[in-house]
Amino acid sequence: MLQNLDRTKSTAIEELNSVSDLKALEDWRVRHLGKKSALTTILRGLAKLPLDERKAVGARANETRALLESLQGEKKEALRQRAYLDLEGRLTVEKLDVTLPGRPVSLGRHHPTTQMLREICGIFAALGFQVVEGPDVEWDYYNFEALNIPADHPARDMWATFWVDYETEDGRHPMLLRTHTSPMQIRVMEKTRPPVRVVVPGMCYRYEATDATHESMFYQIEGLAVDETITLADLKGTLFAFAKRLFGEERRVRFRCDYFPFVEPGVEMAIDCFACGGAGCRLCSGTGWIEILGAGMVHPDVLRRVDYDPDVYTGFAFGIGVERMAMLRYGIEDIRLFYSNDLRFLRQF
Ligand code: FA5
Repeated sequence: MLQNLDRTKSTAIEELNSVSDLKALEDWRVRHLGKKSALTTILRGLAKLPLDERKAVGARANETRALLESLQGEKKEALRQRAYLDLEGRLTVEKLDVTLPGRPVSLGRHHPTTQMLREICGIFAALGFQVVEGPDVEWDYYNFEALNIPADHPARDMWATFWVDYETEDGRHPMLLRTHTSPMQIRVMEKTRPPVRVVVPGMCYRYEATDATHESMFYQIEGLAVDETITLADLKGTLFAFAKRLFGEERRVRFRCDYFPFVEPGVEMAIDCFACGGAGCRLCSGTGWIEILGAGMVHPDVLRRVDYDPDVYTGFAFGIGVERMAMLRYGIEDIRLFYSNDLRFLRQF
């Protein structure tokens, strides 16, 4: 038995010499000191040995165990030390200069339309208007019908429409990509009682040929104010204040009659052309003016549609072309630049 123990010890020591990493050391521990090792088997069998043999074998086995454990500890420390030294070596070779300047992170920015939307909404918010939003895909009812434009009304031609009709078992339901933000006038009034004062930013869609001032997708900001004593003077005052805040005191503003079925009277507002200063050029089609918004006093029929009594309440509404505003603001000569995704253009803002 004692010889057996000595053999176990020398095999273990021999094997330990060739252990070269922590994983191999752990395998070695399991093999020579673990539950199924020869040493543990001997220790467990001690009770069955005669007394004098038990003493001698027990003492030697414990001695062996202590020796192997301490050798294992030493080996572990040596291996750790070596790993540390390796790391030191690596750090010297792979030197990192933490004082070098970092690689520049390229920052994004807001699209010029977004900047304009925020600025315009900010001006109206300061004038007491609340900002609300509505759906891009709209029912015919809100986009036309409730705005005094029934199915066979010729004014529908003013808004070349992308139709996306909705079909169910009951038939086809006329649905479209909103051609303007005016449907939100109805949605807002359906849900609130006067006084109302809202602006509605949103993308609009028109099925029409593009040119320097027309896109098939563009933003509008709708405005609506309804209360007991609102007049056309309030509309003019509000829009003049807005134009002056956005473009400065020196800008010339023009109001002219216009027609929209959902207002009476209807007006359009234009600003003198930034490109030619009013002399007439390609951008303003030779007129010297660029139309920026349509507006008017809310038609009594529209008020009736949402159960507002037109004998008690009056209101004004307007629809601003946002890209047209940005064109004026930044001197951009072609609206098609906005959504052509040319970074050379977008990085200027
Ligand atoms: C309307 O869309 C009306 N809903 C405006 C309105 C609201 C009138 C409330 C009365 C009361 P209009 O089609 O003119 O009107 O468009 C309004 C503005 O949107 C125009 O002045 C112009 O600035 C802009 N706009 C219209 N069509 C385009 C287009 N294809 N591309 C870019 N901007 C456009």
